[in-house]
Amino acid sequence: MNKVEHDFLIIGSGLAGMYCALQAAEHGSVALISKRELSECNSKYAQGGISCVMTDINDQDSFELHVSDTLKAGAGLCNEEVVSDIVSAGPKAIKKLIDLGVKFTRRSEVDESDDDEAGQYNLGREGGHSQRRVLHAGDITGTEVIRALEKACRLESRIEIFENYHSIDLITTGKLGWGLDKNNCLGAYILDKDNDRVTTFLAKSTILATGGAGKVYTYTTNPDIATGDGIAMAYRANADIANMEFFQFHPTCLYDHRINSFLISEAVRGEGAILKVRRKKQLVDFMEKYHPLKSLAPRDVVARAIDRELKETGEKCVYLDITHHDEEFLRKRFPKIFKTCESIGLNMAEDPIPVVPAAHYCCGGVKTDICGTTNITRLYAIGETACTGLHGANRLASNSLLEAVVMGGKSAKCAAEMNASLSNSILETQMNAVPSWSSGNATDSDEQVVITHNWQEIRSFMWDFVGIFRTNKRLQRAKRRIRNIQHEITHYYWDFNITPDLIELRNLACLAELIIDCALSRQESRGLHFNLDYPEKLDQAIESHLRKF
Ligand code: FAD
Ligand code: SIN
Repeated sequence: MNKVEHDFLIIGSGLAGMYCALQAAEHGSVALISKRELSECNSKYAQGGISCVMTDINDQDSFELHVSDTLKAGAGLCNEEVVSDIVSAGPKAIKKLIDLGVKFTRRSEVDESDDDEAGQYNLGREGGHSQRRVLHAGDITGTEVIRALEKACRLESRIEIFENYHSIDLITTGKLGWGLDKNNCLGAYILDKDNDRVTTFLAKSTILATGGAGKVYTYTTNPDIATGDGIAMAYRANADIANMEFFQFHPTCLYDHRINSFLISEAVRGEGAILKVRRKKQLVDFMEKYHPLKSLAPRDVVARAIDRELKETGEKCVYLDITHHDEEFLRKRFPKIFKTCESIGLNMAEDPIPVVPAAHYCCGGVKTDICGTTNITRLYAIGETACTGLHGANRLASNSLLEAVVMGGKSAKCAAEMNASLSNSILETQMNAVPSWSSGNATDSDEQVVITHNWQEIRSFMWDFVGIFRTNKRLQRAKRRIRNIQHEITHYYWDFNITPDLIELRNLACLAELIIDCALSRQESRGLHFNLDYPEKLDQAIESHLRKF
C-alpha cells in the first residue's frame, strides 16, 4: 500500500476528527488517521464538560450571555461573529452527540433528593461563566464522548480507520513546486508505525484535527499526543498561523509527585471550592485581591494570581478547598477526582487539595474561517489545531469541546461541497503525479539521546522563559535557544531515517518557535500573554499572524 485515495483525509481522532469523520462519511469515503490507538487524544481527558445554552433547563441563560462571557474572557480578541455562530450551533450539536449515544449526567444522578421528573441534565458552572451551562458526564466527560464516537466510527463502513499511523507532512502543490496560482493540498505522507513504511495518502479534502501542543511545556495537563503536529505541518506548507502567544495555563493541576499531570477540574470551583495559600502556617483565601469573581475568575487571572502568591510566599503549591461539601456529594459529582485524591491519601471532603498551574490549551493555531477553511485550498483545520476566532486571547472554560464538535460538523459540510465542485480529470492527473516519499541516503540513527535531550531542553526553557509571566529578555533568551536547536534538528532530520520521536521533536521545536515569535511581536499584555515590560493592554486588539514565506 504505497498510495491510497479517499474523498476526505482526516488527520486526528479526537472529538473534532471523529465527529467530522461521521459527518463526512455521509458524502464520501473517509480515511481517519490516528498516531496512537483511536481513542488516545486530549478529548478523552476532558473533565468539566461542554458549554451550551440549554434554556429548557436554565431559563436565566441565553445565547447573548454565553457570547458576552466568551468575549469578556477573550480580552477583546475574539471574532464576535464566529463566537455567535458557534455558541448558537451548540444545542443542535449537543442533540447530535446525545443521538450518537453520549450519556450526560442528569440532575437526579447528582442529588437523589432532586425530584427531577423530566430527567433534566445537570448543568455545571466554571470560571468566567455567568450561568450554569456546562453539560458533563460526571468528571469524565471526554471519556464518555470519545467512547460513543469511537463506537459510531467503527460501525461506519465508509470510514477506514488507520491506527498507529503518524502523519509527517502535508503534500501541497506549493511544496511540489508545481507553480499553480493557488497552493492546493493533495494529502499527506504518513508513517505506518507498525511496519515502518511511509504511505502517500491522497484526498480531495484534507482536514487537520491533530489537537493541541501542551507537551511544549515541562508541566502540562495534556497527554503525550499533544505535540502540535498539525500546526507545524500546516506552517511548513505555508498556512497562516495566528495568536500562538496565547497559551492557556490551567490553574489547578494536582501537585503530587506520585501522579503525573492530573487535572482538578474547574467544575470543582464551580461547586464552590476556594483557592487558598499557606501563610504563617495558615491556609488563607487570596483571590479577592485579584478579581471580583474570586476563585471563579477567568483562567488567565487565576493562573497569574497563583503564580504571584507562590513567588511571594515561596510555597510550592496552593490549595483548593471544597470541604464545605460532604463526601457523598463529592463522590457522585466528581468520582474520578475523588478516587485519584483518595489514592494519595486525600479525602476531598476533609482535606484541601494541593494544586499548581500547568500548560493546558493552545488558543492559537491554523487560521481558519467559520468553515475550517485555511488559506491553502482543500486544507481545513478544526478543534484545538485551528484558530477560528472563538477564543481570542483566552479561552472560556468548556468552549473547546463545543468548538470541536461544531467545527467538525461545519468543516465536513463545507469540504463536501468543495469536493463536489472539483473536476475529476484534473484531480486524476494531479494524484498520479504526486511522488512517493523518499528518504534519500538517510540511515538509522545511533544517537537517540540527541532527540531526548533536545526535547527536554525545549520544554524546560519554554516553561522558564515563555510561561505565565514573560519579559523581553526571557523571550530573547528562548529565541536564541530555539534557533540553535532548530539548526541541529534540521541537520539530524535529513541524515537519519524518520521515527515518531523525531517527527514530534521537529514539530515541538516548530511550535516553540511560533509561540516565541508571536510573543515577541506583541508589545502589550492581553489575556494569556503577560509581558512585564509591556504590562498595559493597547487600545486596539490585533491578532498576531505568521506565515513561512
Ligand atoms: P484531540 O482530542 O487532542 O485529538 C487529536 C488527535 O490527533 C489524536 O487522536 C492524536 O493522536 C491525533 N494526532 C496528533 N498528531 C497526529 C499526527 N501527526 N498524525 C496522526 N494523528 C495525530 N475542553 C473543554 O471544552 N471542556 C473540558 O472539560 C476540558 N477538559 C480538559 C481536560 C484535560 C485534562 C485536557 C488536557 C483538556 C481539556 N479540555 C477541555 C480541552 C479539550 O479537551 C481539547 O481542547 C479538545 O478535546 C481538543 O480536541 P481535538 O479533537 O481538537 O484534539
Ligand atoms: C476543566 O475541567 O477544568 C477543564 C475545562 C476546560 O479546559 O475547558
